[in-house]
Amino acid sequence: MPDHAVELRNVWKQFPGPAGELVTAVKDVTLQIADGEFFSLLGPSGCGKTTSLRMIAGFELPTQGEIYIHGRPMGRTPPFQRPVNTVFQSYALFPHMTIGENVAFGLQMDGVSKPEIAQRVQEALAMVRLPGYEGRRPRQLSGGQQQRVALARALVKRPEVLLLDEPLGALDLKLRKEMQLELKRLQREVGITFVFVTHDQEEALTMSDRIAVMSNGEALQAGSPSEIYERPNCRFVADFIGETNFLDGAITAHTERTATVLLPGGMTVQAEVEQSPRAGSNVTVAVRPEKAHIGAQPGAVNQLNGRVANVVYIGTDTHYDVVLPGDQHLRVREQNHRPGSAPLAAEGDEVTVSFSANAARVLTE
Ligand SMILES: Nc1ncnc2c1ncn2[C@@H]1O[C@H](COP(=O)(O)OP(=O)(O)OP(=O)(O)O)[C@@H](O)[C@H]1O
Ligand SMILES: [Mg+2]
Repeated sequence: MPDHAVELRNVWKQFPGPAGELVTAVKDVTLQIADGEFFSLLGPSGCGKTTSLRMIAGFELPTQGEIYIHGRPMGRTPPFQRPVNTVFQSYALFPHMTIGENVAFGLQMDGVSKPEIAQRVQEALAMVRLPGYEGRRPRQLSGGQQQRVALARALVKRPEVLLLDEPLGALDLKLRKEMQLELKRLQREVGITFVFVTHDQEEALTMSDRIAVMSNGEALQAGSPSEIYERPNCRFVADFIGETNFLDGAITAHTERTATVLLPGGMTVQAEVEQSPRAGSNVTVAVRPEKAHIGAQPGAVNQLNGRVANVVYIGTDTHYDVVLPGDQHLRVREQNHRPGSAPLAAEGDEVTVSFSANAARVLTE
């Protein structure tokens, strides 16, 4: 079993705050990142993504815990002695140097021979699809091209792990989408482990093999995009990734995989459980809007009656806001896949909303 490319074991980082108190930026994070993986750290502003990345790079040292790169404990190893390279959001190329000189810079510092530098710069520019751009200046390139030069500058050093801190943040939406696909292609081609920081859930889902969702310094869940979307382990993850309905209730009975949850309005829901919860405990049931349907559906174990409060047509989909007894809201998203499809219900209609037990998940925190 080969070592992980990067491993964080019970890593903490505390900074002195303005009033002398300690600010916990990273809280007991344990993560394993496989060799060759495209791994994203995803979470809202201030949740500790950059701090985690800077500790892997060696710009910050953990207050507690250890970081391993390919099985080697990093301890106090300085950044330049770690087999990693970082691409920052502000990728500041040297404006007075040519593209070739910008990419060559790190290799010159390392004392690599001139012919080898020339060859590796060419290779790196080819990887980012800018062959022949050696002689240009940064200002003669578009934002996306400059970002690719920044990537080439990191890749030319042949790091074992490439760390990327919101590298597409400065680009407009269209270019950003293009660069997401480019980066993914590049990562596949070179086979280097990428640790990618973003606060954009769609970007993380598009690009990553696995994602760690962070909140308040903690890594709440790590898994493939479909794992964290289909099986979020807590309310924060369910809420942060995509759209989710939350129904509050209490467990009245459960088997190993399924629980019966009583809603305040008197109806019950069958939902999947991960760990055996206690009967009587208050829980939240998460239901994705696209997994619930308007109308009674044969085979769907959950059939809830409610009243349509609002209907919004958005072209591809129609959204129905259904109010259940007990005043809980359940949003349903129906795809308009048939030509000229008419709405399934109007405001004020009494409807049945159906969904299967495995479309609902019991969240205990
Ligand atoms: N050098 C520092 N001194 C004190 N506090 C810091 C320092 N660096 C980060 N912090 C604090 O640690 C927390 C995590 O910051 P971090 O930069 O890691 O967040 P982030 O997830 O990268 O956020 P963003 O998406 O806004 O970039 C924040 O509360 C921040 O204010
Ligand atoms: Mg950051």
